[in-house]
Amino acid sequence: MAQTILVTSGKGGVGKSTVSVLLGAALAQAGKRVLLLEMDSGLRGMDIMLGVQDETVYDLSDVLTRRCEPIKAMAACPYMQGLYLLPAPYDHCFIPDQGDLIRLTRGLAHHFDYLLVDTPAGLGRNFQAAAAVADRALLVVTPDPICVRDGRKVADTLEALGVGDIRLVINKVTPQLAKMKMLPDLDAVIDGVGVQLIGVIPQENQVMEITAKGRPLPNSTVCHRVFANLAGRIEGKYIPLAIG
Ligand SMILES: Nc1ncnc2c1ncn2[C@@H]1O[C@H](COP(=O)(O)OP(=O)(O)O)[C@@H](O)[C@H]1O
Ligand SMILES: [Mg+2]
Repeated sequence: MAQTILVTSGKGGVGKSTVSVLLGAALAQAGKRVLLLEMDSGLRGMDIMLGVQDETVYDLSDVLTRRCEPIKAMAACPYMQGLYLLPAPYDHCFIPDQGDLIRLTRGLAHHFDYLLVDTPAGLGRNFQAAAAVADRALLVVTPDPICVRDGRKVADTLEALGVGDIRLVINKVTPQLAKMKMLPDLDAVIDGVGVQLIGVIPQENQVMEITAKGRPLPNSTVCHRVFANLAGRIEGKYIPLAIG
């Protein structure tokens, strides 16, 4: 049975979709079957990140309203075996019915090891529906005060909705911040959000270039190693946290 992991944040643009895709690829590379469930209605982008934009005809709304079978709406990632995408509704007004979403994810859980649910930023109805199907959550923040305050709010809301297993991912950490003398700044982020840290991801120019072209991260990049380690921790392995 798949674990359903919410990838969420208070603010937009912090890297939720990027983290979902790269973590999904790292888990798939480790032999897992992973479905990316994109719930950011109207703001889809994961099809481009996977390089399947010409193959997606149906989307999550078609599946939830029973216009098509889930398998018909899914696209297989061409560069990573075991990684699949169910793209977000094209219609930005679409709000999934919670019961339908629960039924869908329960059914899908038989066919995958992980369902990674990429939620829209904030605490709207899509977020609430997604929280209802989550076993765990990854809260993505960038090291800036507004993001940290919003992250705290999301963490509190997730807990109130019954998602107790929340881990923090600090994304877009610059080389300056990664230097040891700036570590107290990252500690302040962790304290500010009040959630246990599971990964620190550097800001790497190649991340944007590569995901925009729908290509995999080369094995030689720092981020490739960072996401492989994050995938290992998600799997429950003890991998010491390294900054940068
Ligand atoms: N670690 C990173 N290094 C460099 N660029 C990143 C990183 N993470 C995300 N980005 C870039 O930041 C932008 C927003 O990321 P995205 O995943 O779309 O955010 P969200 O889904 O939270 O709105 C994209 O242009 C993406 O390529
Ligand atoms: Mg996104």
